[in-house]
Amino acid sequence: MLDLPTALTAAPETPGAACRVRGLTVRRGARETLRGVDFTLAPGEKVALVGPNGAGKTTLLNAVVGLLAAADGGVETLGADMRAAKGRRAVRARTGFVFQQHGLVRRRSALSNVLHGLMARRGAWGAWSAATAPAAWRAEAMEALAEVGLADRAADRADRLSGGQAQRVAVARALVCRPALVIADEPTASLDPAAGREVMELFCTLVDRRGAALLFTTHDMEHARAYADRVVGLRGGRIALDLPAAKASPRALGELFDG
Ligand SMILES: Nc1ncnc2c1ncn2[C@@H]1O[C@H](COP(=O)(O)OP(=O)(O)OP(=O)(O)O)[C@@H](O)[C@H]1O
Ligand SMILES: [Mg+2]
Repeated sequence: MLDLPTALTAAPETPGAACRVRGLTVRRGARETLRGVDFTLAPGEKVALVGPNGAGKTTLLNAVVGLLAAADGGVETLGADMRAAKGRRAVRARTGFVFQQHGLVRRRSALSNVLHGLMARRGAWGAWSAATAPAAWRAEAMEALAEVGLADRAADRADRLSGGQAQRVAVARALVCRPALVIADEPTASLDPAAGREVMELFCTLVDRRGAALLFTTHDMEHARAYADRVVGLRGGRIALDLPAAKASPRALGELFDG
């Protein structure tokens, strides 16, 4: 029998904001990559972060989960102060991550990769195998694969999947632990338009089903407008635009890049 810690089976209630960023400045070397950023993400809200290359989008995602420290200002995520190691650990246990390159372990099966998401969040290090995992966890991972339409590919190695399928497995891995917050950095950048739409639609369905908040970056303005509730634009490390998606017109978004 594995000695497993108590499972987090659902996202606990989060009072207030999913994330509250106040006057945030982040330095990378001598450069200030974020400057005086104020930003709030409500529980269950979907926000698209947009802006030119180097604007600070990835930096902000990292700061939100405490992977980059504030030089000034503060970040409170899921009720925890990101200056404290304890708060950072708590937030990472309740956050799902998806990146541009799916980041799956190529030689492992789709099921094994999703299980890894579950086990890592539950602190079951070293117990990562579809064969040795508790049956209840395997069932949860299978359910997550079924939610992204890939139950029939559970046994396939990740490197035998298409880019779109691999990204859907990455979505299942991020959501299997029932996170309160999902962070996605250009999750559709390496996908063709149809696969990109499919991944975003899955994201929206699954984060809504779990009541999670979603913060994603994209260079696809149609995705920002179609899939987010709110669009936040960064330029030169500052917030340059913060609009409900319905008001984020192509013109407003264009000015973010031209201005
Ligand atoms: N590891 C690093 N060390 C030093 N500076 C960095 C590092 N990573 C990023 N930067 C700098 O921080 C700034 C913001 O980068 P960031 O990656 O957050 O931009 P981005 O908006 O995500 O851009 P992109 O659209 O290209 O992904 C840039 O000026 C970049 O050069
Ligand atoms: Mg980036």
